Amino acid sequence: MRNAIILAAGKGTRMVSSKNKVMHEILGKPMIEHVIDSLDQCDIDFKVVVIGHEANQFEAYFKDKVTFAYQHEQLGTAHAVMQAADVVKDRKGSTIIIYGDIPLVQPETIELLFNHNESYDLTVATAVLDDPQQYGRIVRDTQGRFERIVEYKDANDSQKSISEINTGIYCVNNELLFKHLFEITNNNAQGEFYITDIVEIFNKNKYNVGTVVIDDVAEVMGINDRIQLFEASKWLQNKINTSWMTQGVTLINPEQTYIDPDAQIGKDTIIYPNVYLQKSTKIGEGCIIYPGTMIINGEIGDYTTVDSSRITDSKVGTYSKIGPFTHLRNGSVIHDKSRIGNFVEVKNSEIGENGRCAHLTYVGDATVGKDVNFGCGVVTVNYDGKHKYRTIIEEGAFIGSNVNLIAPITIGRNSVIAAGTTVNKDVPEGDMAIGRSRQENKPGYGQKYKNR
Ligand code: UD1
Ligand code: CA
Repeated sequence: MRNAIILAAGKGTRMVSSKNKVMHEILGKPMIEHVIDSLDQCDIDFKVVVIGHEANQFEAYFKDKVTFAYQHEQLGTAHAVMQAADVVKDRKGSTIIIYGDIPLVQPETIELLFNHNESYDLTVATAVLDDPQQYGRIVRDTQGRFERIVEYKDANDSQKSISEINTGIYCVNNELLFKHLFEITNNNAQGEFYITDIVEIFNKNKYNVGTVVIDDVAEVMGINDRIQLFEASKWLQNKINTSWMTQGVTLINPEQTYIDPDAQIGKDTIIYPNVYLQKSTKIGEGCIIYPGTMIINGEIGDYTTVDSSRITDSKVGTYSKIGPFTHLRNGSVIHDKSRIGNFVEVKNSEIGENGRCAHLTYVGDATVGKDVNFGCGVVTVNYDGKHKYRTIIEEGAFIGSNVNLIAPITIGRNSVIAAGTTVNKDVPEGDMAIGRSRQENKPGYGQKYKNR
């Protein structure tokens, strides 16, 4: 059986934040969710997250998705593991103990630890760093046998010069862990219960203790401040973007393209700099996404271009043109071969195939059939200050410029609405609606006015 204990109760003082450290995001996901996602790819039977500081932030975000244990006072990493004892101690197999602030850990590394620990009682993931900073040091005897971990604050000068460090990922025989966990004391520089002391205890009991050295040191980097947060984001961004380029996506400048881990992109799509593809956004094949575009949970069909636009929770079909400066939101659907242009906002609406809506228009709470043309400056008047109403525009209708459509209203098939009309009565199929005051021309008045 495979278990996991994720530690996230600490305050994260170095972040200088009222948000819990591990809830800070890397490419749209809290650090700890990256850890959980990696664990989820490793067939773990049971996992528990130990929380304490800002616990409500975790509860709100993860709701019923994970089991929590609570550490009300942060007395150290071993003390945090103790708080999970009730739910984990009777389980069989191996347990991964990992900190929530190691977001870049890859599933392969967790797999490696589980596999290694099949012939060990405790496996610690270590790394060799040029600059070992304040990480715990791996102390070995003259034969190279792994003796114990010494925390930076407890280390003497010769220990500080050790370049092999504790990454904070452990795989341990679950039964033995809880047999000895409560032997750990807080007799050290910080007066904390360190989980790292488990190494010495296991050695004393002649258990089999080993290490796995992780080559890619970035992967096991612990994030304690916002500078490291940025470095981790960079690393992940580079990994994701490189992978899309090998899958046939052109990134004009990958350093300035921000693609979330769950986004997907089809081949032969070209993405310009300063583009953000967030959450579960899906871009088809052969698309062009021009600069200044942010798509959050959007879906873009094949061969569509999007320029300088914001698309949230909305869908665009194939062979369409969106932007520049379009805002699609709240479950909008734009069908194939449509053109939605400058300063057009579409909210909670569907626009049928071959829709034309090129300038300065608001389409809210509307259902629009295919082949509908909107002139410039059309407004669906959907809100009376209390309620929202729907506008229905049937296929082939032509809506002139500067038209107000006061919902609830239905504009019939192939009807025409004359420019400048405020429509407050349904328009039957094939009719023309015109509602504006008659114009009067005063001969010569213009010139007179100018001469004044
Ligand atoms: C820890 C390790 C260190 C290792 C480093 C790797 C210990 C004693 N030290 O140091 O050897 O090199 O990580 O990044 O384990 N936490 C709790 N409750 C507590 C204290 C901490 O849940 O009472 C959680 C924190 O939320 C955090 C994690 O444990 O996610 C690690 O704590 P942190 O204070 O960052 O430990 P480091 O000083 O980085
Ligand atoms: Ca840390």
